[in-house]
Amino acid sequence: MDTQQALHTRVSAPVLTDPVPDAKVLENIYKAALRAPDHLVLRPWRFLLVRGEARSRLGKLFAFAAQSDHAEITEDQLERERAKPLRAPLIVIAIAVTRDHDVVPETEQLISTGAAVSNMMLSAHSQGIGAMWPTGAMAYHPVIKQGLGLAEHEKIVGFLYLGHIQGRVKQVPELIVSDFFGEWPEKS
Ligand SMILES: Cc1cc2nc3c(=O)[nH]c(=O)nc-3n(C[C@H](O)[C@H](O)[C@H](O)COP(=O)(O)O)c2cc1C
Repeated sequence: MDTQQALHTRVSAPVLTDPVPDAKVLENIYKAALRAPDHLVLRPWRFLLVRGEARSRLGKLFAFAAQSDHAEITEDQLERERAKPLRAPLIVIAIAVTRDHDVVPETEQLISTGAAVSNMMLSAHSQGIGAMWPTGAMAYHPVIKQGLGLAEHEKIVGFLYLGHIQGRVKQVPELIVSDFFGEWPEKS
């Protein structure tokens, strides 16, 4: 797929199956993350790879965090939390490693990490690999941050689910460019 086609057709793929994408494909995806625009080249990110049995461990952590919020949570709800990381063979947890900086505010460091996730999604799509970027309450939960070993200043920007696409690729309507882009000052 050429670059413009990849950029113009990317969609999320909610159903992702085994196997974990090939090492070369993953290397391309990771390298794409590292080319995200990044004010003053702070490299304000790191990524955790969760695959195989580690996904069940992450699921248990999700369930533990959910239970710490709602003591009356049902077994069904706990099971749903445990199953979440099993929705794809590989999860890349994107973490913004933000720091106080005189020139680059935290927001810009978060944006850069988000751009890294977006680059990974585009690289995956261009290689025929499906991706989905959920956050959800777990991305902001102190129990999850602690369980994953995040420092106080680190923030989860997304859980990037990667795998082989099952089912039809979602068809989306093409948006009209002029609905979103306009000249300034407006021409009268
Ligand atoms: C920062 C961020 C957080 C997101 N969190 C969720 C989420 O918690 N659950 C979810 O279903 N999708 C989440 N998404 C995915 C978007 O909802 C998805 O991109 C959207 O449904 C549009 O679909 P598309 O990617 O196919 O265009 C998130 C996307 C971003 C950028």
